Amino acid sequence: MRLSVIGCGYLGAVHAAAMTELGHDVVGVDVDPAKVAALAEGRAPFHEPGLPELLERGVASGRLRFTTDVAEAAEARVHFLAVGTPQRPDGDGADLRFVDAAVEAIAPHLAPGSLLVGKSTVPVGTAARIAARLAEVAPDASLAWNPEFLREGLAVRDTLEPDRIVYGVPDPTDVRVESDVALLDEVYATPLATGTPRLVADYATAELVKVAANSFLATKISFINAMAEIAEATGADVTLLADAIGLDARIGRKFLNAGIGFGGGCLPKDIRAFAARAEELGVGVAVEFLRDIDAINLRRRERATSIVAEALGDRLAGAKIAVLGVAFKPDSDDIRDSPALDVSLRLRELGARVVATDPAAIPNARQRYPELEYADDADDAIRDAEAIVLVTEWAQYRALDPGRTSALASGRLIVDGRNVLDPVAWRAAGWTYRGMGRP
Ligand code: UGA
Repeated sequence: MRLSVIGCGYLGAVHAAAMTELGHDVVGVDVDPAKVAALAEGRAPFHEPGLPELLERGVASGRLRFTTDVAEAAEARVHFLAVGTPQRPDGDGADLRFVDAAVEAIAPHLAPGSLLVGKSTVPVGTAARIAARLAEVAPDASLAWNPEFLREGLAVRDTLEPDRIVYGVPDPTDVRVESDVALLDEVYATPLATGTPRLVADYATAELVKVAANSFLATKISFINAMAEIAEATGADVTLLADAIGLDARIGRKFLNAGIGFGGGCLPKDIRAFAARAEELGVGVAVEFLRDIDAINLRRRERATSIVAEALGDRLAGAKIAVLGVAFKPDSDDIRDSPALDVSLRLRELGARVVATDPAAIPNARQRYPELEYADDADDAIRDAEAIVLVTEWAQYRALDPGRTSALASGRLIVDGRNVLDPVAWRAAGWTYRGMGRP
C-alpha cells in the first residue's frame, strides 16, 4: 500500500522504514532538509540499533523515499502523523504546534477516501479536535488515532513486532468505521497475522492508552525509587527488594530498577502533560499523584549528586570526576531530559571538574552543553579521576573491571547511579562503592 509518514524523527523515521520492511511503498516527509538528506541516503540521523540496515534496504528497494515536499505524499492512501509533541516552553502541557502545522500541511493533499492516522502522543481530546478540522478542510478523508509504544533502543523490534495495536476511531460501534479499520488491518497485516492483539477504541480511549501506559511505567519506576529512599534511611537493599517483590507475577520485575530515575523525550513530558490536561478537564485530582511521581524522580538526580559531594567532602572542588554516560538510557544517543546529564551539570555546579563520556551521545551533548568536558572513551574519562559516577548503564560500563579501573583512576570512589555493578567485587578491589538505595 502507498503510505506517507509526516514527521521523520525517532518515531517517524523508524515507522517509515518498518512499514517499507512490511512491504509497503512509503514516502517520509519532514521539514528539516538535513534530516531528509540523510534518510534519503539510507543514513539514520540518530542512534537506533537496526535502523540503518532497514533504511538502507528500504531506500535501495526504491519503496522508501524521503522529501521535504508534503505534496509528494498526495498519492498515499494512508498518512501517518508522527511529529513531536514536546513540553510547552511556558508550562507543563503538550506543545501541539507541530501536530497542528502538519495537519494543515497535509490536508490539501488528502485524496477522497484516504485516511490520516495520528501516531504522536497527544492530550486526550486532540483527535476529536483534528477530526472537526478535517471535516472543514478535507471532508472526504477520515481520521484514526493509532498510538505508538516503541522504546528507543528497541524501536525497530517494537514497531515490527508490537505488543498490541490500538486503533482509535470516531465510534467503534458505527459501521462507517469498518473501511478505515480494514485499511489499517491491511497496513498491519504482517504483525496481525502473527496474532498481535488489536483493539478498536474511540478516540479518547486510544489517546489515553498511550499516556496511561507511560504514566504507569513512570509510576513503577518512581515507586521503586521511593523505596530506595526508604532503603537509604533503614540500611535495606532496594535491588533485593525489587527482586523479591518482582517475583510476584502480579507485580513483575520489569521497570523496577531503582537508580537516578527516568528521563528522555517521553515519560517526563507525558506525565506532566497528562496532569495538565486532567486539570483542564476538571479531574486534576485523579492524577495529582503524577506530580509526586515527577518529584520522586527528580529527587534521585539530586541524591546521586549529594552522594558524590558527601563522599568527597571538601575534595570535591576541582576534583576530576568521570561520568559514564550522557544518554537518557543505553543504546540511544538521545539526551532529552537525560538524568545522566543533569547529574553531570549539578556536579559541575558544585565545582567538580566533570569529564563525561558516552559511546553514542557525545556529539548531541557537546552541542547542547558545550560547557561540559567530554572524553572519547571510558579510559580517558577515568584516567586520574577522583571518583567515577555511572549514570547510563551501557553494556561496556556494566562490564567495567574493578582491577583494571584501579590502575587508571587516582581515587577509589565509584557511585553506581543505575545499580548495575557488583558491590562485592568493587569493594574487594579496594573501592568505596555507593549505589542508589543499597547499603
Ligand atoms: C517510553 C516507553 O517505555 C515506551 O513504551 C513509549 O512508547 C515511549 O516512552 C514513548 O512514549 O514514545 P523510552 O522513553 O524510549 O520509552 O524509554 P524507556 O525504556 O521507557 O525508559 C525511560 C527512562 O526510564 C530511561 O531514562 C530509563 O533509564 C528509565 N528507567 C527504566 C529506570 O530508571 N528504571 C527502570 O526500571 C526502567
